[in-house]
Parts: sequence; structure tokens; C-alpha cells
Amino acid sequence: MNSIRLAEVRDAAAIAHVHVQSWLTTYKGLVPEEYLASLTEAERVPLWQEWLTRDISVFVAEVAGKIGGFAGGGPIREPLAADDAELYTIYLLEEVQGRGIGKDLLSAVAEALVGKDHTSMLVWVLEQNPAVRFYEKTGAEHLMSKQIEIGGISLTELALGWPDLRRSIWSSDDLPSD
Ligand SMILES: CC(C)(COP(=O)(O)OP(=O)(O)OC[C@H]1O[C@@H](n2cnc3c(N)ncnc32)[C@H](O)[C@@H]1OP(=O)(O)O)[C@@H](O)C(=O)NCCC(=O)NCCS
Repeated sequence: MNSIRLAEVRDAAAIAHVHVQSWLTTYKGLVPEEYLASLTEAERVPLWQEWLTRDISVFVAEVAGKIGGFAGGGPIREPLAADDAELYTIYLLEEVQGRGIGKDLLSAVAEALVGKDHTSMLVWVLEQNPAVRFYEKTGAEHLMSKQIEIGGISLTELALGWPDLRRSIWSSDDLPSD
């Protein structure tokens, strides 16, 4: 069983580390090298310190006593159809991917959002990111696509959505009763 817990402000540096390291391995070859080279943990730490004081649901996964991944979600930023919540971010270090930790983090965020009366959730993901399969596997449906610019090149981003948060990700046995 992976150890998942709510993130605290003191986790900001560890989260920033995972964030930048996972970006480097995830987006190598997908986004321009110069853009990736410009990302630093030092500039991410204060951003995370600030985000962790907000009313968003952020969870971390501890692997052998160290943070190996995190995920966060909250109210949707750009409302789309019926979706009312958004998975803002989910990143694991490459060496701990493929062990069920992503699914556990996603479930923790979804459960927290259900607890805040959200009913559906979407995520934006680059079309070429293999994470698209992960989202599909957890019940997300393709909603729409748009073009975005990263580091001076145009890329396709997909919106995938879980239409019923209470049913999509984890078994109904785990859900709080009505
Ligand atoms: C995407 C990510 C969060 C998934 O977490 P993970 O721990 O690797 O995935 P899990 O082991 O929980 O996988 C859950 C299920 O999805 C499937 N899956 C996960 N990644 C997959 C992939 N790339 N291709 C196909 N299936 C995949 C698994 O096989 C598993 O299926 P199962 O339930 O039938 O066994 C993780 O790989 C990651 O951090 N990737 C890099 C960062 C990233 O792309 N983040 C998303 C930005 S939008």
C-alpha cells in the first residue's frame, strides 16, 4: 500500500523537486529543450509554499520515507460544460511510476473533491503525453482539444473528464454513503 497523505506547507521544497524532475523526464522531446532548461526548483519552492496555503486539495505520496509524487485539484479554472472541478497537477518521479501510486493520488484528490461537493472533474494534458492512457484507464473521457504555446511552439492539449467523480475512479464500496 502506498502512503498517501495531505500535503503541508513544509512539503513545498520536496514537491518542487519532484515537479521539476518529473517535468524533465516527461516532457523531454515533447517541448523545447530551452524551456525545460529554464525550469528551476528554486523558483518553484515559493510558488508551492503559496499554493499550499490555498483551499485546494493537494496530496503527496511517500515512498521509503521520501516524497515521490503529488497531485492537486480544486474548482475548475475555465468552466467547460458540466465539469465543476479540475485536476490541476499530478507528477511522480520516473522511478516510482507504474506502481499504482498515480491511481492512489488521483483517488485521494477525487475523494477530497467529492467531500467538497464537486461532482465531476477534468484535466488538461498534452496529446502526446502517455499520461493520456492513465487517465483513460481511470475512466476519463475525451472532451475537447485546444492549441497552446510552450517555449515558442504550438502543441495540442486535450481535456479529459471524469463525468461522475463518485463512480469513476474508485469502487463504490469506498464511497461515503449518501
Ligand atoms: C501519469 C502518472 C501520474 C500515472 O501514475 P502511475 O503511478 O505511473 O500510474 P499507475 O501505476 O497508478 O497506473 C494506473 C493504471 O493506468 C495504467 N497506466 C499508467 N500509465 C500508463 C501509460 N503510460 N500507458 C498505458 N497505461 C498506463 C496502468 O497500467 C494502470 O492500469 P491498471 O489499473 O489496469 O493496472 C505518472 O506516470 C506520472 O507522473 N507521469 C509523468 C508526469 C505526467 O505525465 N503527469 C501528467 C501531467 S498532465
